[in-house]
This record gives sequence, structure tokens and C-alpha cells, in this order.
Amino acid sequence: MDSGFLQTIREAIPISMKEARQHLPEGYSIRLMSHHDYARISVICEMVYPTERPYSSEELAAHHRVFPEGQFVVVHEESGDVAGVHFTLLIQLMHFHLDDSWETLTAGGSFTDHDPSGHTLYGADLFIHPDHQHHGLAKALTVATRELVSRLKLWRMVGGSRMPGYGKLSTLLDPQDYIEKVKKNELTDPVLTTHLHDGWDAIRAIKGYLPHDEESAGWAAVIQWINQECTPPPDYDIGRIPPKNI
Ligand SMILES: CC(C)(COP(=O)(O)OP(=O)(O)OC[C@H]1O[C@@H](n2cnc3c(N)ncnc32)[C@H](O)[C@@H]1OP(=O)(O)O)[C@@H](O)C(=O)NCCC(=O)NCCS
Repeated sequence: MDSGFLQTIREAIPISMKEARQHLPEGYSIRLMSHHDYARISVICEMVYPTERPYSSEELAAHHRVFPEGQFVVVHEESGDVAGVHFTLLIQLMHFHLDDSWETLTAGGSFTDHDPSGHTLYGADLFIHPDHQHHGLAKALTVATRELVSRLKLWRMVGGSRMPGYGKLSTLLDPQDYIEKVKKNELTDPVLTTHLHDGWDAIRAIKGYLPHDEESAGWAAVIQWINQECTPPPDYDIGRIPPKNI
């Protein structure tokens, strides 16, 4: 189907975020990102990723331009401040390698590789201001993106989960074994455990997804959530996507 036509049909259906709102704790609301949010988002980004360059207003404007309905923010109502974000884009995963870096999957953070005909919603980023963590905001933002997957009749969501608990264990444990132990609740990871609790499955360890992520010793986990309501498209099998590094 023509991708422009597909995009027009998809945009014609309003976004409700009804289920996400049910998961929000009291005092918070959820909506799509607007240009008023850019400065605050850059500040939060700098706080949660001190070793990375934070998003610039130009990059956030580019995300909004290519896929406005995929950029979610949670707002702390009393202060009116953005408390957390979830940024997504559509891709054909078969056009990539399983262990491609965040830079590659997001076209250098610009999201200009967004493909309206893609079957996979790629969760490019999810972060919460430290003062608002552990309130269930990541959960609500994840539910919002799942609602988007359902509305767009997509097959799945894929992401790369940091595993910041792995760095201190990296000399003792293989990264894949670490993921299996987190999956079995034998170990708790500050990020991967949250994703698993929020319904994602961890597929395999990849190296170099965020090369400067020292806490994760440069490793990440490919995570996936399948929309059971949708028929698998031709590129459904993540096992057929070849890695390039491992
Ligand atoms: C990972 C991250 C996004 C999680 O965000 P969060 O909003 O704190 O996540 P949640 O609150 O939904 O869940 C975290 C924990 O809080 C718990 N929680 C949820 N609601 C709660 C509430 N009302 N009161 C207390 N705890 C609560 C959850 O149960 C969960 O704990 P568990 O994993 O032991 O079950 C956040 O820590 C973050 O921004 N980290 C830095 C950036 C980053 O690494 N992002 C991920 C990139 S892959």
C-alpha cells in the first residue's frame, strides 16, 4: 500500500490514551509533545544521561515533524513541568541489523528514518525526571505507546534496553546470562527489570547500542512486545534479522 495513503488513514483516527491515563498516578497527565516542552526535555535528558549529549530543540522539532503522534510526554500537573517522555518512530526492522546502534536506528537522533509503512514501532527513548521516578510514569508511557501500536494496527514494538546493573558484574557474568537472571528475577536491574515488569520480553544481548553507556558496560538488551491482535507481517521473525557484530 502507498505509504502516504497509509499515513493519511492512520492520522485520521484520533489518539485516546485512555488506558495510559488509567495507569497514571494522581497529579499527572499525559499528552503528545509540543514545542513548549523542548527546553525542559533537554534539561531532563542531561540529568538522566550525564555522559550523552542531550537532545537539542532542533532534534525534538524534527521528531515532532516526522511523527508527532509517536512523541509522548507526562506532565506533573501542580508545577506544569514535563516529568517524563517516550519517543518512538516507525521502522521496517528487516532493513536494519539486530545489533544496530541507537545512532543508526534513529538516523543520528533525528528520526528522519521514520518509515510510515513500517510494521515496527521502535521505542527510541524513555526517560523520567529523577524526582518523578518510581511513580509508575514509565509504565503509563509504555501503555500509551501500546495503544498507538493497536491504533495503527502494527505488529510489534521493539527497543534497546540499557542494563545499568550489568557494569559491575561484567567481569563475572556473560551479558546474555545476566539478562536470563534478570528475567528469572534472580537479579534486579534498574532499567531492564522495569521494562520486563511493563510487559516487554528481552530477546538477546547486543554490544555497542549506546557505546558510552559505561554503567551497562556498553551492552543492551533487545526488547520486544508483540501485538497479539495483529497478523504477523513478512518481517515478523526477529530471529531472521542478522546481527553484524556478534
Ligand atoms: C527506567 C526508567 C524510565 C523507569 O521510569 P519510572 O517511571 O521510574 O518507572 P516506573 O515507576 O514505571 O517503574 C519503576 C518501579 O517503580 C515501581 N512503582 C510503580 N508505581 C509506583 C508507585 N506508585 N509507588 C512506588 N513505586 C512504584 C514499579 O513497580 C517499578 O518497580 P519494580 O520494577 O520493582 O516493579 C527511569 O528509571 C529512567 O528514566 N532512567 C534513566 C533513563 C533510562 O535509562 N531510560 C531507559 C532507556 S532504555
